[in-house]
Amino acid sequence: MKVDVLLGLQWGDEGKGKVVDVLTPKYDVIARFQGGPNAGHTLEFEGSKHVLHTIPSGIFHSNKINVIGNGVVIDPVVFKREIDALLVKGVDVKKNLRVSRKAHLILPTHRLLDAASEASKGKEKIGSTLKGIGPSYMDKTGRNGIRVGDLEHADFKSRYDALVTKHKELLAHYQYEYNLAEMEAPFFAGIDLLKTLSLIDSEYELNQHIKDGHSILAEGAQGSLLDIDFGSYPFVTSSNTITAGTCTGLGIAPTHIGEVYGIFKAYCTRVGSGPFPTELNDEVGEALRRKGNEFGSTTGRPRRCGWLDIPALNYAIMLNGVTQLIMMKSDVLSGLDSIKVCTHYQYKGKTISHVPYDVVHEEITPVYEELPGWSDEIDQLHDLGSLPLQVHQYIEYIEKATGLPITIVSVGPDRKQTLLRQPVLK
Ligand code: GDP
Ligand code: IMO
Ligand code: MG
Repeated sequence: MKVDVLLGLQWGDEGKGKVVDVLTPKYDVIARFQGGPNAGHTLEFEGSKHVLHTIPSGIFHSNKINVIGNGVVIDPVVFKREIDALLVKGVDVKKNLRVSRKAHLILPTHRLLDAASEASKGKEKIGSTLKGIGPSYMDKTGRNGIRVGDLEHADFKSRYDALVTKHKELLAHYQYEYNLAEMEAPFFAGIDLLKTLSLIDSEYELNQHIKDGHSILAEGAQGSLLDIDFGSYPFVTSSNTITAGTCTGLGIAPTHIGEVYGIFKAYCTRVGSGPFPTELNDEVGEALRRKGNEFGSTTGRPRRCGWLDIPALNYAIMLNGVTQLIMMKSDVLSGLDSIKVCTHYQYKGKTISHVPYDVVHEEITPVYEELPGWSDEIDQLHDLGSLPLQVHQYIEYIEKATGLPITIVSVGPDRKQTLLRQPVLK
């Protein structure tokens, strides 16, 4: 069977965790392919809220295999915390979780280097989650990294010590002060736990699942506009967040990719620094933040809010080969007299509909179209027919502007607050 992919089309936090959880019953395997604990994926059901950082969002369904792929970077400290929290909730994590031997580790010194690098940038800082993501991927591509599979070798500790020695030299360059001993105890406790899990050659196992006719859903982290190659560099994360990242992050050939679910909020948010053409620095932005509870799931930072950006959405659709769209947080727009949508940009004296190369140093001004809003709350509605006419108009407007069907409309954080417009699987 083909591998379906679900990923964010904006700057992350689109609601990927919620929808992966909703779609999991249709799949046999859920696999994360990139990113690390910079992700915070929220799931709500039966009155409880859960936030996952490294573990795929299919973990709450028994008998579904959850794989952490080679493209992911794992911090054993966060990972242990996550597993312990799930065990307390009665989730049999160890039974259904598999970890790629080729996934790289985030060391305590990677976190220190992240903090030192950000501190050295002053006003130019990326706004990193400070989880050590950038330094860990740097060691991966620099061919210095330590992988999960290295835990099975007797010389793991000496490899660790050698890399930490290098990191200490870099930290000295930054003149960054730290207490490493304090950070190492939880790290090695996490390593001990990791060793007890099912460590696998995930590229072989996943391809065997494909051969056996099992269905796989690949779960993205971050969003397309944070992609290392195609985002607003340098204000991006350090991995390929787009569909292509599924192939390298899981060892799956492009010919195996099936549906690509592109998930977006009915408006936009961004955490951290970097350009955001439709950002609202006014009371409307503040109202969206309040109503949408737009505070980071990983860091608690307030998210910047703004109107939906069609050129950016179409850019992400193009990069990912999206086959169907999922619109989240539609309920947050209730109560607005009108809703603006950015259809074009004004850039260097021209009206354009693409995302230009330099959005960091050049002025980019959105051109808006205004659509009617709706006053009634929609979060308790359980069928599409009862949605206000203006919601349908908004959906149809986006479908026309993107040329793709919106197959799921989310009206609240709970599993049940999910309206299917069309069967999502062909
Ligand atoms: P992810 O990183 O893409 O998984 O998204 P996050 O979990 O970081 O952020 C999405 C936030 O919106 C979480 O707090 C979700 O519980 C919440 N959420 C998801 N879908 C909806 C929705 O349709 N309406 C509202 N109001 N909240 C939602
Ligand atoms: P999920 O999977 C939103 C942002 C950070 C920062 C930039 C680089 O929950 O959607 P990093 O820690 O990767 O060095 O930070 O990317 N960022 C996210 N923003 N959601 C995320 O993940 C993010 N992961 C990283 O805020 O601007
Ligand atoms: Mg998130």
